[in-house]
Amino acid sequence: MTDLREALDRLLEAVPPKRLAESVQRLIADYRSGRPADEPLLRNMVDATAYAAYRMPATHAAVAAVLRQLQDKAAPRSLLDVGGGSGAATWAALDAFPGLETVTVLDQVPEALKLGERMLPRATWRQWRLGEPLDTADLVLVSYVLGELTPEAQHDLVDQAGAAAAQAVVIVEPGTPPGYRRILDARQRLLEAGWTVAAPCPHQQACGMTGKDWCHFSARVNRSALHRKLKEAELGYEDEKFSYVALTREEHHGRGRVVRHPAFRKGLVTLQVCNPDTKVGPTLVSKREGPAYKAARDAEWGDEWPPLDP
Ligand SMILES: C[S@@+](CC[C@H](N)C(=O)[O-])C[C@H]1O[C@@H](n2cnc3c(N)ncnc32)[C@H](O)[C@@H]1O
Repeated sequence: MTDLREALDRLLEAVPPKRLAESVQRLIADYRSGRPADEPLLRNMVDATAYAAYRMPATHAAVAAVLRQLQDKAAPRSLLDVGGGSGAATWAALDAFPGLETVTVLDQVPEALKLGERMLPRATWRQWRLGEPLDTADLVLVSYVLGELTPEAQHDLVDQAGAAAAQAVVIVEPGTPPGYRRILDARQRLLEAGWTVAAPCPHQQACGMTGKDWCHFSARVNRSALHRKLKEAELGYEDEKFSYVALTREEHHGRGRVVRHPAFRKGLVTLQVCNPDTKVGPTLVSKREGPAYKAARDAEWGDEWPPLDP
């Protein structure tokens, strides 16, 4: 992350802060409107730089958290980052998988690619539009892209990503109810195509979350001074909420997954856990349980439960 931060800071020196701030405000409004774009949201180099400044640290943090759950389940040597923009997900993948040799970022916006290449020249940056063929790669990442597409285009992209991936396919979306629904839909298509869910679900059945609940997670992002200024924010950090699914070719014996911040009371930890039998509900761990209690105190939202070595 430090490297990405430094690369971003160097990039931002070249653009007048006022123009960046205007671009950020417009992009925030466009993304919040939630409608699929009929023209690229990033229109020029300043837009691409603004997106990089205000969103890359957050999408990077989300993808880094996702890939930590995949590290012991895949060992990719090649990566395809589809709709990769300026490469936030690629930076996270390079951290998570040091064995990556071939790294390709595809996007429709040349400015985003140009910017990405300036920060990370070792990757291959190629203009690509949905519908054009994809090369194969061990790991295919689709990070924060589906929400920009119509439902039909989302299906096409998910199918293409699944067909292009050899070891693993990972889809990440904002941690909102619509983002979660897009993830559920992608998960279902990829299961039908023969993939196996490696994370976050500990099972291959329909999602057991009911009512108004939706499966999402959270990654903390420290904001730089410029980041704070661009977002007109006071806090030195933000929590990026995301939903995701990571699928592999092999079966995994899933443990449960902590799906909320743990709650602590004196001598008692309550973990909301999604279990291998598809039920989602509270697991209570009391101080009397010794090592399990210590493990529960250390458990975080998004971790597997129980740990391998309590
Ligand atoms: C919100 S950005 C996400 C960028 C990056 N993956 C990340 O996680 O930060 C969505 C990206 O998808 C790209 N995109 C959207 N529709 C596309 C299409 N039809 N073909 C290719 N790229 C597309 C956009 O150009 C943009 O760079």
